[in-house]
Amino acid sequence: MVEVSPSILAADFNKLKEEIKSVDEAGADYIHIDVMDGEFVNNETPGFEMYEIAEETTDKLIDTHLMVENPENWIDDFSKSDIITFHIEAVNEETARKIIERLHELDIKVGIAIKPDTPIQEIIPYLEDIDMVLVMTVEPGWGGQQLIESCIDKVRELREVNEYINIEVDGGINLDNVNKLKEAGANIIVAGTAIFNSTDRKFVIDKMKE
Ligand code: DX5
Ligand code: ZN
Repeated sequence: MVEVSPSILAADFNKLKEEIKSVDEAGADYIHIDVMDGEFVNNETPGFEMYEIAEETTDKLIDTHLMVENPENWIDDFSKSDIITFHIEAVNEETARKIIERLHELDIKVGIAIKPDTPIQEIIPYLEDIDMVLVMTVEPGWGGQQLIESCIDKVRELREVNEYINIEVDGGINLDNVNKLKEAGANIIVAGTAIFNSTDRKFVIDKMKE
C-alpha cells in the first residue's frame, strides 16, 4: 500500500488551515511538516507554528521532518507528532541512539532521513530500531526542486536490504516520476508542489496511491 504525505511547505501560508483541510479531504494519509533551522539547511521555516496549526486542524497523522542541527533538542516540542524524522548527518551514533530511545518513550514512530549524497549504509545499523527511512530525492532546504534520479537507486538498494521498513521519499516528486519510486520500493510519498499547485488535489493524491 502506498501512502501520501503532502508537504505543507508548498501550501498558501495565508490560509494554512484551509489548505490542510483541503488535502485532508483529498485523501492525504499524513501531513508533512518541514522544520528548517537555518543551520542544518540555509532556509528557515516556522516549523512549530506549522505543526501546531496542523495538530489542531486535522486528525491525519503528523509526519514531522526535522532538518535541524541538534535534533535531540527539538523532539519534545513536537511530541504530538505521529512520526518524527531526523537527519543522520546531524548526529553522531550516540545521539542517534538517544533520540531513538526518547521517541520510543514518547510512543512516537521513528524516522531517519538521508541526504542525496549519504549512502544507505549509514542507516543500516539502525533499521531494526526504527519505523521509517526517509530517502531525500533533492537536497533538503527548499520545495519545488527537481528530483535527483540517482536517489531512486538508493531506494531500490534499501528495499533489497529490508523488505518491511517504511521507505518515504521526499523532494521533486510528481505524477511523471512517482511510479519509478514506487517500483523501486518506496511506500510513503511526500509531495508539496505537485499537490498544492494542482487544481485537482484529489486526482494527484489518488494517482500517487494507485
Ligand atoms: C525539502 C523538503 C520537502 C519539500 C518537498 O527540503 O523536505 O518536504 O517541501 O516539496 P516538493 O514536493 O515541492 O519538492
Ligand atoms: Zn520534507
